[in-house]
Amino acid sequence: MAIETHDALAIAKLRRAGHAAAKTLAYVESRLRAGISTAAIDAWVREHTQRIGGKPSQLGYKGFPAAVCTSRNEVVCHGVPCHHEMVKEGDIINVDVTTELDGYHGDTSRTFTIGVSSREALHVVSVAARSLEAGINTVRAGARLGDVGAAIEALASREGCSVVREFGGHGIGRRMHMPPHVSHVGTRGTGIKLVAGMVFTIEPMVNLGSPAVHVLDDGWTVVSNDRSLSAQFEHTVLVTRNGCEVLTALEKR
Ligand code: MF3
Ligand code: CO
Ligand code: CO
Repeated sequence: MAIETHDALAIAKLRRAGHAAAKTLAYVESRLRAGISTAAIDAWVREHTQRIGGKPSQLGYKGFPAAVCTSRNEVVCHGVPCHHEMVKEGDIINVDVTTELDGYHGDTSRTFTIGVSSREALHVVSVAARSLEAGINTVRAGARLGDVGAAIEALASREGCSVVREFGGHGIGRRMHMPPHVSHVGTRGTGIKLVAGMVFTIEPMVNLGSPAVHVLDDGWTVVSNDRSLSAQFEHTVLVTRNGCEVLTALEKR
């Protein structure tokens, strides 16, 4: 399938959408603490997104019932915020924000630790964060998509963790999910050639135990089969001639 490359005007809009999503995620971070419900996170995302003139892309997407995904502990991704689900001391929780601004989407997530965490929790969160960076570092015009997954897989397995295969990153632009599919495992030198102007997400899900996952009866929540801890980080990146620009980073990198 043809993969879109974006012109200067589209890139300017993608930058603003990426920045908006990053700002909302930072707002959540500033309020996140033990004792709140995941539904509160959903309310903060709705409120902040509206305040900056955007729309939560995830709300109603294929029937998704909330504005944000909140994925705690063994939840790998697509956790649905709920009034009965409390954030507790020692938890890890991924908050995944996607914002539509002026017709373009930005998508970013981070896994936060709540209070004092176990060594295992800190490890899986650190490995997920570093695997995203390893993936980002391979991106430049002329590289292959398989380079991204290969770098992520190598880092995670060196650290004794596993990488989820069933879900990946995606092209993003005027729609939240577009081609290509960005696998977080792969072989260097394989896959499509990256071209300046392509925009996609990298969002590795890293498990402490086995990589196998399944979807719960709610049709959304993805959990690790062995209920081991899972962490995820996501950025939206623009391919450039010499590397990439992280559109969802708040500070210059
Ligand atoms: N933001 C998620 C992603 O990274 C999208 C989840 S789709 C939803 O691709 F419907 F669950 F929100
Ligand atoms: Co995404
Ligand atoms: Co996302």
